[in-house]
Amino acid sequence: ALVYEWSGLTQLGKALEQQLGLQHVLVVPGDYNDDETVLTLLGKEAAQQFLLTIANEQVVAVTGGKSVASLAQFLQPVDHQQNITFVAARGGIGHEMHMQANTLVATFAMQMDAQHRTLFLPEHLSEQAYQAMLTEPMVTEIMAYYDRADCVIHGIGSAEEMAIRRNTSAEDLRILEEKGAVSEAFGYYFNAEGQIVHRIRTIGIQLEQVEKCKHIIAVAAGKQKVNAMLSYFKVAPKQTIFITDEAAAKAIAERL
Ligand code: G3H
Repeated sequence: ALVYEWSGLTQLGKALEQQLGLQHVLVVPGDYNDDETVLTLLGKEAAQQFLLTIANEQVVAVTGGKSVASLAQFLQPVDHQQNITFVAARGGIGHEMHMQANTLVATFAMQMDAQHRTLFLPEHLSEQAYQAMLTEPMVTEIMAYYDRADCVIHGIGSAEEMAIRRNTSAEDLRILEEKGAVSEAFGYYFNAEGQIVHRIRTIGIQLEQVEKCKHIIAVAAGKQKVNAMLSYFKVAPKQTIFITDEAAAKAIAERL
């Protein structure tokens, strides 16, 4: 973060840290919505933060999305830190293959000489299928990992964009709109007040399990996501380290 000191971005991050009540906010220069290369800076900073927090034997839950995928090229094995397991934070295949959680955990594990666990399930299970899945050994195994997760790396999506990307049914789209969903993180949809208004019915890490994690790395950029960020940060656990870009950080600061 020292690199950005000159531009006042460190101070901006510190101010947001206090206002949002988060452990740490790191701001990289630029606007992701104008310039996709900002994602590289974002990934580098987020990977550095993650590598500082990771310790022996830890379990790391990872969500999908471009922002989380941006860490991959900057991850590397860390001396004396072994037996790290990356686990897909959700069973659903809600993203294109190259940026879904199942793919990312495999890539992250390869980069760090670590292990990984995947869970391939349909994105929207029927109530009946969901109940049946809960007793499947491959599902109970992954749920045990969620319960002992030490760290979560996740993106924050705008509810509308995520619903479209996930081919959400017309019925669910109507429900989301009616309930005022603004943001999405780990399969939960939140309204502007940060209340959960909907959850994708697939196996995934629960909010209570996220809250128990020692470290949470949230990665999201671009001013188009500012409403979503403000909504999610109403409920974000205090131990969250948030990595964002200048455009989003400035827009958030104006709204607080
Ligand atoms: O949960 C939110 C989404 O994963 C964000 O995806 O980083 O591609 O915008 P994105």
